[in-house]
Amino acid sequence: MPRVLIVGSANVDLVVATSRLPRPGETVSGGTLLVAHGGKGANQAVAARRLGAEVRLIACVGDDGSGSAVRAALAAEGIGVEGVHVTAGAATGTALIVVDAEGRNQIAVAPGANRLLTRSLVEARREDVAWADVVACQLETPLETVAWVLTEARRCGATTVLNPAPVPDPPLDFLDTVDYLTPNEGEASRLAGGAGGDPAGAAAALRARGAGAVIVTLGGAGALACTAEGETRVQGYPVAVVDTTAAGDAFNGALAVALAERRPLGAALRLACAAGALACTRRGAQPSLPTRAEVGALLEPP
Ligand code: RIB
Repeated sequence: MPRVLIVGSANVDLVVATSRLPRPGETVSGGTLLVAHGGKGANQAVAARRLGAEVRLIACVGDDGSGSAVRAALAAEGIGVEGVHVTAGAATGTALIVVDAEGRNQIAVAPGANRLLTRSLVEARREDVAWADVVACQLETPLETVAWVLTEARRCGATTVLNPAPVPDPPLDFLDTVDYLTPNEGEASRLAGGAGGDPAGAAAALRARGAGAVIVTLGGAGALACTAEGETRVQGYPVAVVDTTAAGDAFNGALAVALAERRPLGAALRLACAAGALACTRRGAQPSLPTRAEVGALLEPP
């Protein structure tokens, strides 16, 4: 079984679906509420698990009802949660998400306990890093922690994936520890500081700063991978979009699984794009993440 370690955030998401996104200072009423589990790290762990990998998650939740529920739900998915630390120092991370009729979202996050996922907590789980075929991080936890994990994963011979979301203000000075960097278009442009212009140009600029391969996700248009061997483009899968929340997490979880399975890049990108597309067809983050059978049916319709 492919082994995937995710190090990252775990949240509770309060999701309101409305006809349109509110403008600053505006109240939009008439929505419906969904409370679901989220956080980019936990979402990617669930995505990888549902696609068939053995998965461990290192994260930090609060010593509160939300934290217990998040941890229990991850364990029920079959994810190793020994590295999901419970802290009395902060509440479980919470995201407020508004989704419009076209499935577009706005997300505001109170990181809470995610900020307390310190380097020393993760160093205490170094056996998880040594265990993994693929180690994947995002940027909802402290940068120092992410940098240590990626460096240690490289030292242990694992493949490293960094989903640089959300893009932080400080520059990322550890891109040379990243085998696969997976920004969306906006993130690629911000990280490249406007260099390059289009996604391919931004990817080239980020590769020049040390990232091994850069995979730019393009929403419904698929993905573009830039590697030492050249460019690979994969088309998106047309679906009826309900809620795009966690589409990127589905993509990243699937990519981690495909890399751990040692699939060729084109096949890995198709699996990831199909998983991302399916995540758009249902509401919420973790409730929307597809199974391997669902992804298989989209890739090869009967
Ligand atoms: O990528 C989607 C996720 O971003 C949500 O689940 C929310 O918790 C935020 O972390």
